[in-house]
Amino acid sequence: MEKIKVAVLVSGGGTNLGAILKAVDDKIIQSAEIDIVISNKSGVYALERAKAHGVDSIVIDKKALGAKEFEKQLVDVLESRGIGLIVLAGFMCILSEDFTKRYPEKIINVHPALIPSFCGKGYYGLKVHEEALNYGVKVTGATVHFVNEIPDGGKIIAQKAVEILDGDTPEILQKRVMENAEWIILPRAVESVAKDMLKEKN
Ligand code: GAR
Repeated sequence: MEKIKVAVLVSGGGTNLGAILKAVDDKIIQSAEIDIVISNKSGVYALERAKAHGVDSIVIDKKALGAKEFEKQLVDVLESRGIGLIVLAGFMCILSEDFTKRYPEKIINVHPALIPSFCGKGYYGLKVHEEALNYGVKVTGATVHFVNEIPDGGKIIAQKAVEILDGDTPEILQKRVMENAEWIILPRAVESVAKDMLKEKN
């Protein structure tokens, strides 16, 4: 069966990558194959997860190369491998307009809040949960969306709400949002977007 080739972009621990790889094993993802994992940093645990799964991985060091050269090398890898879908899974860099315009509705991202709350430039990782707790909202969650030139501004694909409980710390909340929302909606979104892409192709 034909599958969409996916590149997963990571920057850290890669628990969302882990959820995607598990969903492939569990056949929740059937329309896509994980072709490569790309990290903007060396030494991150996400790279170990890729290796353990027998998935190719590379580092394109954004800090060493600078943003322009980073994106140039990224495009070279994506084009040479025939990637159809780019998944940002805990990827902590903002991509340029030049880059996002090249891949309309072909890049998806998971964000650890209910967009349009607690999102945009500067809202990433634990910071998102700190801000949700500081604000005092009672419900948060996760969003999967298409990526365009506006940080966290593209069309929403899926969202899932998660309750905030008394005594939550940013770390406790982050874990609950990952387990109860991100790790569920991201793999499902990969499958549904890839399935639609296959339909369009055939
Ligand atoms: C996840 O909560 C992800 O949603 C968030 O960082 C964490 C990384 O986890 N991403 C962003 O904030 C991107 N703006 P992971 O590396 O274990 O998947």
